[in-house]
Amino acid sequence: MINYSDAIKKRRSIRNYDKKHLEDNHIVKVDKLISKPAIGPFGNKPRFALIEKPAARKQEKVRLGTYGFISNAAYFIGGCIEKSEFSEVDYGYSLERIVLELTRMELGTCWIGGTFKRSDYKAILQTKENEIIPCITPIGYPAKKKTLRERLGLTLTDGSLRNEFGSLFFENDFQTPIVFNPEDKIHQALEAVRLAPSAVNKQPWRVVKQGNKYHFYIFRDKMVSKTKSTDLQKVDLGIALAHFKIIIEENYINGKWHIGDPGIKEGEYLITWIKE
Ligand SMILES: Cc1cc2nc3c(=O)[nH]c(=O)nc-3n(C[C@H](O)[C@H](O)[C@H](O)COP(=O)(O)O)c2cc1C
Repeated sequence: MINYSDAIKKRRSIRNYDKKHLEDNHIVKVDKLISKPAIGPFGNKPRFALIEKPAARKQEKVRLGTYGFISNAAYFIGGCIEKSEFSEVDYGYSLERIVLELTRMELGTCWIGGTFKRSDYKAILQTKENEIIPCITPIGYPAKKKTLRERLGLTLTDGSLRNEFGSLFFENDFQTPIVFNPEDKIHQALEAVRLAPSAVNKQPWRVVKQGNKYHFYIFRDKMVSKTKSTDLQKVDLGIALAHFKIIIEENYINGKWHIGDPGIKEGEYLITWIKE
């Protein structure tokens, strides 16, 4: 199996799936993966379920989002988490860890936070009054071809584009960009943040380094919805924290999450990682 940094580089949103049914050994592995207890940096614990969509197996197109179509996916991972200020962050963190394991198993996924039918998932997941379903993902074998919409360039986002390193990561304040050094092990973790998926590919993550502290911020985009039920850009930040932490761990660097707003008056402060 490939390592995590290669999985991060390899992962793409897969919107067109092979009609082949998931093999039993894959179903067993996925079940095992999603039933492991998960916890995010803010201490919230999501739960996940593998859901088979019978309609999709009859090769109908399942329309899930306000942008993009998912074709032929027969399985989805749905999940929920108790609503609190940072629960979407922890949900994004936990589900992206699963997504990267699935990427290592050569299974395709696509974060979906748009207008999928939350009520279907509510019934299956038996959500409680105070629980939300921030996002779901289809799961399956990627089809050889892209969807027609993708081939015609009709999707709203080009998933391959990312902002430059120096426009996302800074030293001391938001005025001084960090120059990427590929040999620097923490820069490698920041580079993994840069490659993360995000809603409408808006890449709302920013990091300011102050000494051994790395402060994570959200720079919001009005195009991405923040509804009462879900704040998708907090999910984005959770995904980014997972990428950062996974590469920190892969590089054997010690550190911990800490909440301590340094008081920079830009963006929305979320959390700090302190190198020990
Ligand atoms: C929180 C979140 C919500 C998303 N919602 C949708 C969606 O509703 N429909 C869709 O087609 N893609 C959705 N995406 C996928 C993004 O468009 C995609 O990750 C981004 O364009 C980058 O492309 P890549 O994943 O191929 O690297 C979502 C991604 C994230 C992280």
